[in-house]
Amino acid sequence: MVHDEELIRKDSVYCSYGDTVHYAEPPKIFRGCEGSFLYDSSETPYLDLQMWYSAASFGYRNPRLSEALKKQIDTLPQLACQYLHEEKVLLAEKICLANTERFREKGRIQFNVGGAQAIEDALKLVRNCKGKNLMFAFMGSYHGRTLGASAITSSYRYRRRYGHFSDRAQFVPYPYCFRCYYGKKQPDCDLYCVSQFEKLFETEYHSVIDTKAKESEYAAFFVEPIQATGGYVVPPRSYFKRLKKALDNWGILLVDDEIQMGIYRTGKLWAIENFGVNPDIIAFGKALTNGLNPLSGIWAKEDLINPTVFPPGSTHSTFSSNPLGTSLALEVMAMLEEKDYERKVLESGDYFLALLKDLQRKHREIGDVDGLGLALRVEICGSDGFTPNRELADKMFLEGLKGTLDYKGSKCGLILDIGGYYKNVFTLAPSLHIARGEMEMAVELLDQLISKCKKA
Ligand SMILES: Cc1ncc(COP(=O)(O)O)c(C=O)c1O
Repeated sequence: MVHDEELIRKDSVYCSYGDTVHYAEPPKIFRGCEGSFLYDSSETPYLDLQMWYSAASFGYRNPRLSEALKKQIDTLPQLACQYLHEEKVLLAEKICLANTERFREKGRIQFNVGGAQAIEDALKLVRNCKGKNLMFAFMGSYHGRTLGASAITSSYRYRRRYGHFSDRAQFVPYPYCFRCYYGKKQPDCDLYCVSQFEKLFETEYHSVIDTKAKESEYAAFFVEPIQATGGYVVPPRSYFKRLKKALDNWGILLVDDEIQMGIYRTGKLWAIENFGVNPDIIAFGKALTNGLNPLSGIWAKEDLINPTVFPPGSTHSTFSSNPLGTSLALEVMAMLEEKDYERKVLESGDYFLALLKDLQRKHREIGDVDGLGLALRVEICGSDGFTPNRELADKMFLEGLKGTLDYKGSKCGLILDIGGYYKNVFTLAPSLHIARGEMEMAVELLDQLISKCKKA
């Protein structure tokens, strides 16, 4: 085994830093994993509350999924995507039928590798259908870091060095009610943010429509139903219905990015189901294979994606519908059918949220806790409970990674991820299989962290 110090030295010489974030300097090294835990070189357990940004939703080294992978390795592990294999077709069928049941729409699936690539495919479908390259997206959005995906991701930081291709989003305030962009308060606001969006379409002089041609210059609105990197922000339940109405009036497509919140993170196959609207395109990835293979994809309504409008060769990736990924995803879909994940995730989510609310009552620095299913947020603030406190969040994050916390007399660590507009939100995406005892442990460790770090 190469020692930690030597690995860090080699990393600094041979690895680009461009594909990672280096929040902790030097980066933490892990050597093993199981269920909700990662283990470092000294075998100290770290309770993971972010599970690879919600990719490993069904637990690390899930035995059933590891078995499915091994079985596929022993049968048909490789196949060029111009040929067919059973797992690809059956997986596409399963997702299509699930969507027909939910949205009463016929559609098709196209696979790719990685979330950003699925977003690129969605952009192609939209451009192909509408012949336009202007999109709406939300402030606080994150859709990936390829050139197309970063053009519709809110942070200029991801574009600054690399300039633009032709796609571009107009960014609209997301209903982040704890810090309302317009300074309004729920529930009295009557969704003022949607009224402002609707206003854009009142006259051509607001710049987005041609009233004579009855057409908008904007082709689609890319949404995350729950903002992920933006800080696990849960919108009011009636928000998307009103937004969709405004889009339908002008033939603007709704593209639903489920890459982080899909696959039961919020208690539904797709998070958008919580809001009663039907998307035109859905992008998915991450937890579809429990993070064991970078399979991603899009579902789109039949008229957008059928082979006469989107013919062979419209996109291609060597690894797109690879047998290992599609067999894993098929097993994940089978698990989802066999067990009532909706009930389980909502029950666990309620329990975890209640514990977090108790913790909030102990610490004024926890300005907001909220969640839907097992997508939970803890917003760290100053002692006024509102001013964003990035410094405290960073300290807690780093302290958790040291592996020096104590739980029932044993040494352990806590893995957190920081998101949010002010980088002060712990975005919690625990395993969907997390046990009650592990949630209690999580809250006890968060309590230790905040108590220790606010004193320091
Ligand atoms: C909502 C959302 N869209 C797209 C992406 C990009 O996915 P990937 O990192 O697999 O390219 C992410 C990744 O975190 C995401 O959370």
